[in-house]
Amino acid sequence: MTSPLRLDTRAQLAAARATAADPVAVVMTMGALHEGHDALLHAARDRAGAGTVIATVFVNPLQFGPGEDFQRYPRTLESDLARCRAAGVDLAFTPAPDEMYPHGEPLVRVDPGPWGTVLEGASRPGHFAGVLTVVYKLLQATRPAVACFGEKDYQQLSLIRAMARDLDLPVEVVSVPTVREPDGLALSSRNRYLSPAQRRAAAGVPATLRAGADAAARGASPEQVLTAATQTLSATPEVKLDYLALTDPDLRPLAEPVGTALAPLAPVPADGVARLLIAAWVGSTRLIDNIEILLPRGDE
Ligand code: PAJ
Repeated sequence: MTSPLRLDTRAQLAAARATAADPVAVVMTMGALHEGHDALLHAARDRAGAGTVIATVFVNPLQFGPGEDFQRYPRTLESDLARCRAAGVDLAFTPAPDEMYPHGEPLVRVDPGPWGTVLEGASRPGHFAGVLTVVYKLLQATRPAVACFGEKDYQQLSLIRAMARDLDLPVEVVSVPTVREPDGLALSSRNRYLSPAQRRAAAGVPATLRAGADAAARGASPEQVLTAATQTLSATPEVKLDYLALTDPDLRPLAEPVGTALAPLAPVPADGVARLLIAAWVGSTRLIDNIEILLPRGDE
């Protein structure tokens, strides 16, 4: 298996892209790669076929707020490149911040609109403008037919889909299900911040989501789904809730959310498909997760 060609500059990427076999599939990451990222790389390899898989590794300063973990975000480039190699990546774009933002902080950013100010956007002002701006720039630099993103970051995925649709970007956005540890915890680069005791407590996050999904499977209403989830959460006091919300696919609340404001309430979708989203602190580590909820259908 050959190593992916590592490219540090946009000029190197442009030269490699010019002769890259089509179709191109891209996976964008901030590095500290784990099996969740592997699932995206494999999906990209599948979709590219005999074409080219490009992985990008860039800790994007624009999407971190003041006091967030930009400085201490794990940087593990050598092992990231080994994972890329194992997953059949052809090109790995690994720019420094100056290479991505040669003129300093960009004056113009992608405006995420109303979805950018709720849930994660309410807790992390400016976060999604930073995400969409770097995703847009990386799409410009790689010009892929397909870009793979994880359901783990559901609001991010929804916003990237909306950006591609609303700004006519010629890319197919492919979503990949969340990869979890045996106890349900979603794999995340930030899990490595957790002490062993915190790591055990963190299982309370997916357990909370599962309790909501199980309640829905038993025919619970949106309010009852949130109550069941909240009850399970209270069994793990080390997990401090930021927010818990049950929404329709447009991030409109189906019941009064906990820890955040979302208005007004929307009706249960006809197909019953909803999303339960959580953000919570375990010590100084902020974890997010979400799960699909199948509510009793609106017409039943
Ligand atoms: P990062 O957190 O490194 O995640 C990169 C991609 O991997 C995202 O699409 C994310 O949803 C996906 N991912 C992370 N954990 C996953 C898991 N357990 N299962 C499945 N997929 C998972 O998300 C970002 O970086 C950045 O915001 C980025 C899009 C790269 C822009 O800077």
